[in-house]
Amino acid sequence: MSGHRVAVIGGDGIGPEVCREALKVVAATGVVLDTTDFDLGADRFVRTGDVLPDDTLEELRGFEAILLGAVGPAIGDTTIPPGTLERGLLLRLRFALDLYVNLRPFTGVPGSIAEGCEFVVVRENTEGTYAGEGGFLRKGTPHEVATQGSVNTRMGVERCVRFAFALAAHRPERRLTLVHKTNVLTFAGDLWQRTVNEVAPEFGDVALEYNHVDAACIYLVEQPRRYDVIVTDNLFGDILTDLAGAVSGGIGFAASANLNPARTGPSLFEPVHGAAHDIAGKGVANPLAAIHSAALMLDFLGEDDAAARIHKSISSFIDAEQLGTTSATSAIGDAIAERL
Ligand code: IPM
Ligand code: MN
Repeated sequence: MSGHRVAVIGGDGIGPEVCREALKVVAATGVVLDTTDFDLGADRFVRTGDVLPDDTLEELRGFEAILLGAVGPAIGDTTIPPGTLERGLLLRLRFALDLYVNLRPFTGVPGSIAEGCEFVVVRENTEGTYAGEGGFLRKGTPHEVATQGSVNTRMGVERCVRFAFALAAHRPERRLTLVHKTNVLTFAGDLWQRTVNEVAPEFGDVALEYNHVDAACIYLVEQPRRYDVIVTDNLFGDILTDLAGAVSGGIGFAASANLNPARTGPSLFEPVHGAAHDIAGKGVANPLAAIHSAALMLDFLGEDDAAARIHKSISSFIDAEQLGTTSATSAIGDAIAERL
């Protein structure tokens, strides 16, 4: 039986160990994956100087999906210039594969600030300040200038906004909140707000709201229940989803799907957390974010049934365990697999 062709990039730190648990749980659903491991990340870079060779990128295009653990050098590692792996591997994949939606769902676990809340952040994933526009003038002189622009195309904003509206339209609450900073970012903010306003009539049953990003940070902590679907730009989405992770029980639970909704190539699924080198190899990393990310992958591959079973198993595990009772990485993977 041939399975879904999935590329696995375990990456650095706890990445490989959490991926292992995610694949264990997928196997337990009965969904067959035909996986290929890719040796990419800090070790590979230190060994060979390669971050993401062009031919490897081309090879990755041939898969249905990519499961990624984490990339990033250990804190204090001075052999790898800061950002080399993040930009050269992760961001390059997001841009090259046109993964224009970064979908980050949150469910507040028992005891968390957002306990009982369930919301999703749709983060634009290929533009904004991440696009790399800008540069230096007079570098190294007392009159040095550094600019870092935010790139917002009508096409890029609109496709992301449409995705968010369509997602909201299929949820019980049907609410969409644009988060931006339109009072200050008058060009980018104006384009986002106009785009949202113009698309809105096509989704007449979706209630539309707007929050400034600073206010959204307060609301996420004080009234997380007010959110259903949030749509926002790349940098605001990066920051907001770390905050959303923290109020929902910790970044160890936060999953993400980097989607190419047009399906012109593979989409990429990864936990929001990083490589956490300090706990790597100790068998104590929380694999739930990776397992949840694998469920998002199955969903996108059309295996809705298996995905739903994993979601249910994760929530029943979290409810039953009252968090922290089981802390071993592989024991958590086993427990999720058993509850399927
Ligand atoms: C994330 C990460 C990345 C980002 C880094 C590693 C480049 O923080 O996926 O949220 O900023 O997007
Ligand atoms: Mn981030």
